[in-house]
Amino acid sequence: MDYNKYIEIVKDYPKEGISFKDITPLMNDGKAFKSAVDEIVEFAKEKKIDIVVGPEARGFIVGCPVSYALEVGFAPVRKEGKLPREVIKVDYGLEYGQNVLTIHKDAIKPGQRVLITDDLLATGGTIEATIKLVEQLGGIVVGCAFLVELGYLDGLEKLKNYDVLTLLSYK
Ligand code: PRP
Repeated sequence: MDYNKYIEIVKDYPKEGISFKDITPLMNDGKAFKSAVDEIVEFAKEKKIDIVVGPEARGFIVGCPVSYALEVGFAPVRKEGKLPREVIKVDYGLEYGQNVLTIHKDAIKPGQRVLITDDLLATGGTIEATIKLVEQLGGIVVGCAFLVELGYLDGLEKLKNYDVLTLLSYK
């Protein structure tokens, strides 16, 4: 499916100069959303994943239906202060800011095959930080899946050692 018409581009949001890719129209269309999730599920099946990991907040939207479809767990990666039990954390740079991401220490068991999901790959900072968290816990990142990739940033370069699925790319 061509997902282009389901992504709304919002100029100068959340800051001047940023061209925001809004995925909510895609989520709003049941068939398009299912088709996107199904493509990621097929990718994940090939990778024989044990668990899905997604960063807050839109990584949950993409990752949870995949986890449900494959009957594997989902582990949330959240911004600092949001997870209630013992966490490990990592600093990361965002397309527009700085942040800290955390994951529960017992979220991944060593040797588990992990699929990481998010809505968008921009600079790759978020996904790089998420990979670090998973690998620190002994997980094996067998794939990363995104709805959208911004080809004019160097996110894919950061992921050159990983298998990546992107459904839509902006040049
Ligand atoms: C957005 C997006 C990705 C990340 C991509 O999330 O959902 O997670 O930025 O940017 P990057 O590749 O440059 O790191 P954001 O941090 O805005 O959080 P949200 O989903 O909670 O709004």
